Amino acid sequence: MNDLLERRPLTVVSNRLPISMAKDPEKGWEVSPSPGGLVTALDPVLKRQRGKWIGWIGTEADDEVQDVLARASEQYPYDLISVPLSEEDEQLYYRGYSNETVWPLFHDLIGYCKFERDTWERYKAINKRFAEYTARNIDPESIVWLHDYQLLAAGSYLREAGVSNPLLFFLHIPFPSPDLMRRLPQEEELIRSLISYDLLGFQTRRDRDNFVHCVCEVFPDIGIREREEYTTLFIGDRRVNAGNWPISIDYTEFYAHTKSKEVADAAWLFHEHFPNQRIILGIDRLDYTKGIPERFQAFELFLEKYPEMHGKVILYQVLVPSRTHVPDYQNLKHLIESEVGRINGKFSQAQWVPIHYAYRSLGRMDLLAHYRAAEVALVTPLRDGMNLVAKEYCTSCVDNRGVLILSKFAGAHDELGEHSLSVNPFDTERTADAIYQAITMPEEERVRRISALREQVKNNDVHRWVERILLASELMTD
Ligand code: UDP
Ligand code: G6P
Repeated sequence: MNDLLERRPLTVVSNRLPISMAKDPEKGWEVSPSPGGLVTALDPVLKRQRGKWIGWIGTEADDEVQDVLARASEQYPYDLISVPLSEEDEQLYYRGYSNETVWPLFHDLIGYCKFERDTWERYKAINKRFAEYTARNIDPESIVWLHDYQLLAAGSYLREAGVSNPLLFFLHIPFPSPDLMRRLPQEEELIRSLISYDLLGFQTRRDRDNFVHCVCEVFPDIGIREREEYTTLFIGDRRVNAGNWPISIDYTEFYAHTKSKEVADAAWLFHEHFPNQRIILGIDRLDYTKGIPERFQAFELFLEKYPEMHGKVILYQVLVPSRTHVPDYQNLKHLIESEVGRINGKFSQAQWVPIHYAYRSLGRMDLLAHYRAAEVALVTPLRDGMNLVAKEYCTSCVDNRGVLILSKFAGAHDELGEHSLSVNPFDTERTADAIYQAITMPEEERVRRISALREQVKNNDVHRWVERILLASELMTD
């Protein structure tokens, strides 16, 4: 373990806690793992290093919720501290500014952006609340580590609250170019808040450079020192460091679990539903950044161009419900469902349906069984901070059979692009051809590629990620 962590406990702050609660009218309170890659990555880090996680429980917090949370916390080797949000906070701060302004803008999808004054005001108020809860719950010696786009404005409030601990921030999604960032009416306030941190981490070099360029736009007279590992910005008497450290998964845990008999049996059973067929797998939150309609179009073209593949290949798409109250997500769900119906209507035969679609979240065991059973993974986001599904798939190909088709616009492409089949998801024709190439790839090539991919993930797992960031935070006073 990193020396620094042996000396200083860790406090993680993110919009969501690793568990979310929802009340079922018949069954009562249900607790489930929170969706998304942030939780997958950070949970093993905190399990190993202990400390605290401060965040939202996904519902309005009252006394009853606090009781359920207290009971659920007993399963965790670290403390869970909930920040309460009302229904209106959720609507304006979470659905509004976080998910209808920052999320689409930072993913280069400006057409989805809404710029509204009241959502911004509430975003600031909730960021202040997160900062105040953090200030109240940290030990003087702890490292305070905030995460992601929902908390971009919290840095200034932490300093205002008198927090003098080392402050770290990691952005799990892309950071936009200055051209895009300029469209945001609150650009300057957010950049000012971000430079309150001592160290900022980004997924890729592109994100780090975009951030540095945006800071230079707001503060043209700053000093800059470039190092391989991070850039130091000298802004007045502040010194801010920004680096790129691609997030990852707990490789050892994923690999060992996928190898287990339980997963092997479940994978076999899953594949038996599609005898003599190759499975192409898509696993995503239902989100417009993930390029699902574009993926279906590419699969449709593949079926048109290669009729000899009919009856031999299926696309199995899992879509995890996400941000279901945001209208753009509701519209996308309707579009996807009509596309599944249209394509299946066009190609299905008595014994074969080309697209299988599941709208639900899989538990870890089923997820691993799906990965292990699939001959191909189709990971084709239009833009993605990292995409942990790509890393999980490579790790789970314990039989060396899988092929990864990966979008150039996923952060994971920087590490996995060389040995995957790299595609531009907007290029339907080439993506269709990549599917054909994956399905017909000779065994020797498949083994070579997937082994190299797995090795890459193994050598850069989430524990190494955290060590590199904390080491940089130790060195940054040099
Ligand atoms: N995931 C899951 N169950 C599912 C589908 C996905 O637990 O049915 C997890 C998956 O293991 C991964 C995360 O959700 O860790 C998705 O992370 P990713 O970085 O790919 O995308 P994000 O959802 O964060 O945009
Ligand atoms: C992405 C974001 C996370 C977010 C997750 C799930 O991974 O980077 O910050 O928690 O999606 O989205 P949700 O809106 O359900 O928290």
